[in-house]
Amino acid sequence: MSGMAPPWALLAEITHACPLHCPYCSNPLELVRKSAELGTGDWERVFGEAADLGVVQAHISGGEPLLRPDVAEIVGAAARAGVYTQLVTSGLGLSASRLDGLLDAGLNSVQLSLQDARRPGSDFIAGRESYEAKAEAAAVIRAAGLPFGLNVVLHRHNLDRLAEIIDLGAAWGADRVELANTQFYGWALRNRAALLPTRGQLERAKATVEERSGSGPELVWVMPDYYEGVPKPCMGGWGRRSITVGPDGTALPCPAAYAIAELPFPNVREHSLAWVWEESPAFNAYRGTDWMTGPCGGCPRRETDFGGCRCQAYALTGDAARTDPACSLSPDHHLVRDLADAAGSGDAVPAFVYRRPGAGQEA
Ligand code: SF4
Ligand code: FES
Repeated sequence: MSGMAPPWALLAEITHACPLHCPYCSNPLELVRKSAELGTGDWERVFGEAADLGVVQAHISGGEPLLRPDVAEIVGAAARAGVYTQLVTSGLGLSASRLDGLLDAGLNSVQLSLQDARRPGSDFIAGRESYEAKAEAAAVIRAAGLPFGLNVVLHRHNLDRLAEIIDLGAAWGADRVELANTQFYGWALRNRAALLPTRGQLERAKATVEERSGSGPELVWVMPDYYEGVPKPCMGGWGRRSITVGPDGTALPCPAAYAIAELPFPNVREHSLAWVWEESPAFNAYRGTDWMTGPCGGCPRRETDFGGCRCQAYALTGDAARTDPACSLSPDHHLVRDLADAAGSGDAVPAFVYRRPGAGQEA
């Protein structure tokens, strides 16, 4: 192995199929069809190579991973490779017997998504009835005694109920509540004007998190970078900590990187994970600091935030190598500031464009 530090985590997106229609979905506009998905044996090889490379944790995700009938075999393959496994699920389809099968296969933890604290809001955001199924899934996870994280994507339609969301997480027995402000990639970019919160909502939410931290479930909160003027060290740096493998085997340094059309993302059907991590041009494109242009080049924060988010730079400027416009030093910062200001302007908020059932996922 070269001198490169190994990846810590593998995000295994085993399918793009999903029963929900969330407007903030970060999956790409063009979803992978079922007929193009990797098979069980492919995933077995990928997990083996990941473990050899140094990966310690696999997030088995989607879409909805429970829509794969072989999800227990896939979890078992990761467990046999010696990798800690987390199922990332909407909860739809997570019965006690299904979870038993996953536990037998070696599942270590579950992250359950929730859209809002109350049934009407949660079902409205998910685009279908799903709140009750999530409550039942939470009970099943808790009864199994597994480490349990609740993940809630935040935006202008649920931020005002943050205290209730935290209370619900505690009532459902979550060990940890991840309060993930919406990132505008993939489908979420299409719904940006409908989802962007006001500065006032964010300030109140931040105060709630400060007040509630230290009691009840662990709270994980990151202020959205559109409002801070400070970019996030996205993914802990490009190609530094994790690998995403999409349903068709496309390997990415970040789950949102599909959109960067200029990069030749490798496929695990053709390359080993070691080659992907160490040699592939796409993973090396934004490592280190030599690629940096503009203010990042001489900035004292360049080893701290790695120039911000490549996918955001690409989405907003068309050039993934530019300084992230979320940075107040970026010549493109007005793009982000104008959007944040517009969210608080009192203008009419557009309706959601939901992900349509099965769109792009047919065999
Ligand atoms: Fe980070 Fe670049 Fe902004 Fe400096 S100029 S704070 S390195 S994004
Ligand atoms: Fe892809 Fe930030 S989301 S690098």
